[in-house]
Amino acid sequence: MVEQLRMILIGPPGSGKGTQAPNLVSKYHSCHLATGDMLRGQIKAGTELGKKAKAIMDQGGLVSDDIMVGMIAHELDNNPECENGFILDGFPRTIAQAEALDKMLAERKMPLKNVVELQVPDERLVSRITGRLIHPASGRSYHKEFNPPKEDMKDDITGEPLVQRSDDNVEALKKRLIAYHEQTEPVVAYYKNKGVWTGIDATKTPAQVWEDISAALV
Ligand code: AP5
Repeated sequence: MVEQLRMILIGPPGSGKGTQAPNLVSKYHSCHLATGDMLRGQIKAGTELGKKAKAIMDQGGLVSDDIMVGMIAHELDNNPECENGFILDGFPRTIAQAEALDKMLAERKMPLKNVVELQVPDERLVSRITGRLIHPASGRSYHKEFNPPKEDMKDDITGEPLVQRSDDNVEALKKRLIAYHEQTEPVVAYYKNKGVWTGIDATKTPAQVWEDISAALV
């Protein structure tokens, strides 16, 4: 039987979190809580939160810690797939979020097992982000050159159209990278100190990166 997964996937924009998460879901059947996808869901639904979040996301900034912590707590308590463990993708992104997560998991007796950091130097991320295509309904991620869909601009599974994200441009990426280095890299150090961290060279092909992640979780 496959062991229960309780992990964080962390790395800069374009490092491959959204590309690798579906592999983890199909192996472990845990819930996949991707905070960027959750916020884009709010934007699509036209909620007040979505309107506020869109302005921040398009500028490459971070949405408030309170909102993000509330979203994760709600999912852990109400998403039945989280009974099989969880994959946090894009959360926590600040030390305040990491501390709130520690408290949340302690209260629910769900100790964190692994933090996997996908490591890619900044200069490799520009082409990944500007060539990315996504399937909005599922969050599946493709790349015009590195991971093209079977049929041009169509999702492999549903055949629905693929789009580019509104924050996938060079200007917003610069700000997202600044936010990552200033606010999220300290989170990586936080988990290194807790002894649950593994770093993965995510400049390899997606298949090789998946092999390395699988090995790290054994
Ligand atoms: P979010 O949606 O989480 O974006 P992100 O962290 O910037 O990460 P990305 O989705 O851009 O990258 P990814 O690592 O998933 O890369 P992918 O696999 O697609 O967040 C968006 C915004 O929401 C934030 O900026 C913020 O405003 C807000 N937000 C979200 N969470 C928040 C929080 N907790 N607190 C506050 N605000 C929050 O890969 C990228 C491309 O590269 C793809 O085209 C892919 O095909 C290709 N690729 C992947 N792997 C490889 C490989 N090995 N080789 C070659 N190409 C590859």
